[in-house]
Amino acid sequence: VQGVKDAKPNHSPRAVAVRFDDETGELVLLDQTALPGEVRYLRLSEPSQVREAIYELKVRGAPAIGVAAAYGVYLGVSRLSARDALSIERVFEEARGLLQSSRPTAVNLTWALDRMARRLSAEKGGSVEQIRAALKQEADAIRAEDEEVCRRIGENGLALLGRNWGILTHCNAGALATAGWGTALAPLYLGTERGYGFKVFADETRPLLQGVRLTAWELHVAGIDVTIICDNMASHVMRQGWVQAVLVGCDRVAANGDTANKIGTSGVAILAKHYGIPFYVHAPVSTIDRACATGRDIPIEERPPEEITEKWYARRMAPEGVKAFNPAFDVTDHELVSAIVTERGVIRPPYDQGIRQLFE
Ligand code: MRU
Repeated sequence: VQGVKDAKPNHSPRAVAVRFDDETGELVLLDQTALPGEVRYLRLSEPSQVREAIYELKVRGAPAIGVAAAYGVYLGVSRLSARDALSIERVFEEARGLLQSSRPTAVNLTWALDRMARRLSAEKGGSVEQIRAALKQEADAIRAEDEEVCRRIGENGLALLGRNWGILTHCNAGALATAGWGTALAPLYLGTERGYGFKVFADETRPLLQGVRLTAWELHVAGIDVTIICDNMASHVMRQGWVQAVLVGCDRVAANGDTANKIGTSGVAILAKHYGIPFYVHAPVSTIDRACATGRDIPIEERPPEEITEKWYARRMAPEGVKAFNPAFDVTDHELVSAIVTERGVIRPPYDQGIRQLFE
């Protein structure tokens, strides 16, 4: 991945948002807070650094957070030696607790940490060296599987789209948010390789601008036709007839098909319904949380007010002392979702039934 100024369109959806450097034993993250101005890589060796990178959105997007957290707990045990056999579980649990508390909405974080914990239990009785190797292997598998799962989501999602369609997307559910391809953007990468000629509208995605900074950057670098719009322009663009489908990602799917995604997504879904435009949610099966009966059970992250009042302004724009409410996600009612696209196929309403069958 090159800086956008010197990058040539290369159709490569495998942006390396998160990878592990086996030579140095460090987790390497593409710092998404520096994009699009600068392509800067962070090298992390402690679980606390990974926690901070997740909280500060240096790595973000549900699947990428899961992959980073898996490597984060591995980093916790990676430097233990044979003498530390008795403390391995304690060190693992400390790292797990730290990472678990970094962001609440994306269930992929818990899913990845639970998977690492199951691997640790399966290795019980092994030497420190064996356990370390097993945890590294598990984190590598989580990363490799995510890339493959996203490619399959792309194939399943592409089957719902037509040539020369206008597509609207919100936030960033692309290669930067996963181990490669993305979820909602995967059909666009595959379609572009096959000459579909999509025209993409990327919502800016206030307050943290993932659409303008990240979706616009990765689609532009890949040579895909992308136009940025402010969030409040989506209705106008839809009314012109320029949008044939809305594609979004997701942080958690409840058992009834309610889906949590970046704040503003539910508003886009309501607009899409008004204009008769299909609204497709893309998510790996690991994003489905059957322990949440409905969207009301999904925890919604609240972030610092300064992200609204001053973060992207040259100077503060809000009056001093004014209250600011900053929920990072919202829930889209399942009635507004035309289909949920997973790696195992496309789920249509009634979602409670479709989700149950997916796990049977
Ligand atoms: O706060 P973020 O940037 O982590 O929010 C990300 C999203 O809302 C994405 O749409 C979602 O995680 C799916 S990523 C494939």
